[in-house]
Amino acid sequence: MIAPVSPALPPAPLAPAVVAVAANPFVSLAYLVAGVCFILALRGLSSPTTSQRGNRFGMIGMAIAVVTTLVTHVPSIGSGWTMACEIGEANCPFGSQIDWVAVFEILAAIGLGALIGITTARRIAMTAMPQLVAAFHSLVGLAAVAVACAAFLNPVAFDIADMVVPMIGQPFASIHVVSRVEMALGVAIGAITFSGSVIAFLKLNGNMGGKPILLPGRHALNAGLLGAIVILVAMFTRDQSPWIFWTITILSFAIGFLLIIPIGGADMPVVVSMLNSYSGWAAAAMGFTLHNSAMIITGALVGSSGAILSYIMCRAMNRSFISVIAGGFGASDAASGGGAAVDRPWKRGSAEDAAFLMSQAEQVVIVPGYGMAVAQAQHVLREMGDLLKKEGVRVKYAIHPVAGRMPGHMNVLLAEANVPYDEVFELEDINAEFAQTDVAFVIGANDVTNPAAKTDKSSPIYGMPVLDVEKAKTVLFIKRSMGGVGYAGVDNELFYRDNTMMLLADAKKMVEEIVKALG
Ligand code: TAP
Repeated sequence: MIAPVSPALPPAPLAPAVVAVAANPFVSLAYLVAGVCFILALRGLSSPTTSQRGNRFGMIGMAIAVVTTLVTHVPSIGSGWTMACEIGEANCPFGSQIDWVAVFEILAAIGLGALIGITTARRIAMTAMPQLVAAFHSLVGLAAVAVACAAFLNPVAFDIADMVVPMIGQPFASIHVVSRVEMALGVAIGAITFSGSVIAFLKLNGNMGGKPILLPGRHALNAGLLGAIVILVAMFTRDQSPWIFWTITILSFAIGFLLIIPIGGADMPVVVSMLNSYSGWAAAAMGFTLHNSAMIITGALVGSSGAILSYIMCRAMNRSFISVIAGGFGASDAASGGGAAVDRPWKRGSAEDAAFLMSQAEQVVIVPGYGMAVAQAQHVLREMGDLLKKEGVRVKYAIHPVAGRMPGHMNVLLAEANVPYDEVFELEDINAEFAQTDVAFVIGANDVTNPAAKTDKSSPIYGMPVLDVEKAKTVLFIKRSMGGVGYAGVDNELFYRDNTMMLLADAKKMVEEIVKALG
């Protein structure tokens, strides 16, 4: 579709247009196929056995969406108000006025983005994944802001405005009311996502202290800013003055920053998944502005899956979703929690003791946690499992939904070490088995095994479902020192029980020694 042409109007200094309406039914069909691929991708990613297939569906869907957009939207050299069109459309200048500079810029940007993406994906350590995801979300937010700004500055090229010729004064492009709402929401959510993700990245990457920064009166300030943004969006639907648009943008950048600084490093993974959700909604809002159904479908999928994931994580960590997203409600209680108590008697064991106990067992259940990820002990752990299996021991792995520091953290590491999927069990499937287990081998996990979650109402983890490792005949605990605490900062009463043996060392070193002793 061609944007309105008014020969009476002087040529406007507009940028080359690259956007058009997807009127072509084949375009809609291609976007629909891409959307179905994204749904299949999400479905596949829900289980380790199908995750690779899910990833492939995601890549195919994205390739279809990008190629369809590129081949059907021709960057043509702008002349006056005649801007974008689709291939095959009547009066389309395709073939005669292609803006090759713009084509080159687009391809160069895709090439550069792909290069950065491939290099980062190859080099990134699994433990640094949360900050990488935060960095990527900041880009999605920034892209939504950039698209909204471009649409605001050049609405005719985006086919979202009608030309108005007033009796007095200059002719101007009046942006459709619906598009103003989409644009305002897109820029607001995009800006919040961008500044929030930058802060989340800095906190997770250690460039900024992980402690919550609690400004006095922050809730009133945030509520005031949010109220101001809502009023400005309402005003923007009646008056498209630039000052309103730019004020919404600036206030949204500010509120993203203010919402995330009071959140401690502890709750950051929930925040990252919540920002993931925001970035989806920002993309969906911009999809409406660009009349791009692929963006609307993708944005809605990302938005809703991110929101559901945040909710599931909060439930598994026994944190209130509202308290996390409101920023800093209850932050002080989460940080407290008693710390480590090291003055009680406990039993220390050696690698040889552990090897002997496990080789005599009928069933060993391995419980990995954050410490295994830090030590990168997953490969040697699988070796240990293989040796035990050779000795006739039944080996299983028990995964807590929030073990480690990101969703699926342990599943990814065990899959990387080629641990067979049928040996890996979720909490609800394995918990009943601990009572019939000879050895629970806890490697770098703490909070997810802490019985205080079941009994101690004053504990910050009270109410969180935990793995019942204490029911096993013997519990072997690998950690580096008795003083070290887990994420919640609380001592674990299990360390001092009669059936517990502490194996104090770096997880990888200790398992290497056990493997030697078994071999
Ligand atoms: P944590 O409770 O954090 O305990 C980690 C344990 O690993 C500590 O006991 C630590 O003791 C030990 N450790 C650290 N480095 C080690 C190394 N190199 N070798 C051996 N041991 C090492 O871990 P968890 O049990 O996996 O629980 C996860 C916690 O993170 C939960 O509280 C959960 O709510 C929270 N959380 C999870 C997520 C997601 S989505 N997974 C997101 C946010 C928060 P030492 O220092 O003494 O070695």
